Amino acid sequence: MSQTDGYGDGTRCVHAGLPEPAPGEPFLPGPVFAAPYHLDPAGGDAAAGRDWYGRPGNPTRRNLEAAIGELEGGDCLAFASGQAALTALLLSLVRSGDTVVLPADGYFTVRAFADSVLAANGVTVRTVPTAGPHPSFEGVRLVLLETPANPGLDVCDIADLAARAHAAGALLAVDNTTATPLGQRPLDLGADLVVASGTKALTGHSDLLLGYLATRSPELLATVRTWRDTTGSVPGPFDAWLAHRSLATLDLRLARQSANAAAVARALRSRSDVSGVRWPGLEDDPAYPVASTQMRRVPGIVAFDLGSAERVARFLSAAELVFAATSFGGLHTTADRRAQWGDDTAPGFVRLSCGVEDTADLVADIGRALDRSA
Ligand SMILES: Cc1ncc(COP(=O)(O)O)c(C=O)c1O
Repeated sequence: MSQTDGYGDGTRCVHAGLPEPAPGEPFLPGPVFAAPYHLDPAGGDAAAGRDWYGRPGNPTRRNLEAAIGELEGGDCLAFASGQAALTALLLSLVRSGDTVVLPADGYFTVRAFADSVLAANGVTVRTVPTAGPHPSFEGVRLVLLETPANPGLDVCDIADLAARAHAAGALLAVDNTTATPLGQRPLDLGADLVVASGTKALTGHSDLLLGYLATRSPELLATVRTWRDTTGSVPGPFDAWLAHRSLATLDLRLARQSANAAAVARALRSRSDVSGVRWPGLEDDPAYPVASTQMRRVPGIVAFDLGSAERVARFLSAAELVFAATSFGGLHTTADRRAQWGDDTAPGFVRLSCGVEDTADLVADIGRALDRSA
């Protein structure tokens, strides 16, 4: 039982990972900038379980890991980026001769990594669309899901696929970047591992890169920890501290982002010059049936099609409150045309990430920019 179990989301975010109150100490201790630490000159410190070097151990990073672990409901390891966490998962738990199943429509750099590094290491890579159908997992070592998938926002049933993976002897991991642990807790739904980019909504200020992996299995945790300690992809103390500070407002940020996405999606739906509007919170969205039972809240990302690259360019130039940028989950509303990065999407397909601006301002600005870009 973690310290914040039983409380609401806002309370859990504010208190997650904080040390016990002590007179004269800050609520969230500042970053500990240290590569080596003093050793006991006679006995060394490793045996005493203390920090002796910053790669395996840093108290600022441990506080952040405790916080994310409480929110995900498992033990957490922080990484220098989401991609570092994902590649740690795929390299530490998968061997030559193994087969992995990856989302065909998930974050494209994971597929690029699999096609180059994993394939060259003798790993068979199969890709399956998030909406399915998912084939038999017989003979598979690891299934990675990304739900909602980025950028198409399809959703799959984690509990069902975890049961099927386990029946076939496979591990199941979920990329929880888009949902965040307040949107869904994959470990509660039967996943063996959660992996995510903390660069996005989790920290939400567009000012740092972070990744993490969480699990309830001591064996999996030890394997990935050894991988991280020996390959060295850890976040620095300042980023870890900044991430922990930002985590405290996750509940507030997600609430506004999600409300903004609901309003933007409905406004886009009402226009005849916008097609393919996707937001898993819309009752007639194909993802709604699973999302509405599996997810505790729907993230602030909306996808739609403006028909051509030229119209997207005019829209992004005309908008005042929508920054053209390729990330999501931040305080500022951002959007990008996904085909420019190699995503298998139509030329006019846009991923728009709602920030925490006032809903009326955002809807009005997007409407004006669409009118001007028509
Ligand atoms: C779903 C998903 N997973 C992983 C990553 C990689 O995260 P990072 O950019 O922190 O390396 C991203 C980045 O956009 C992502 O969207």
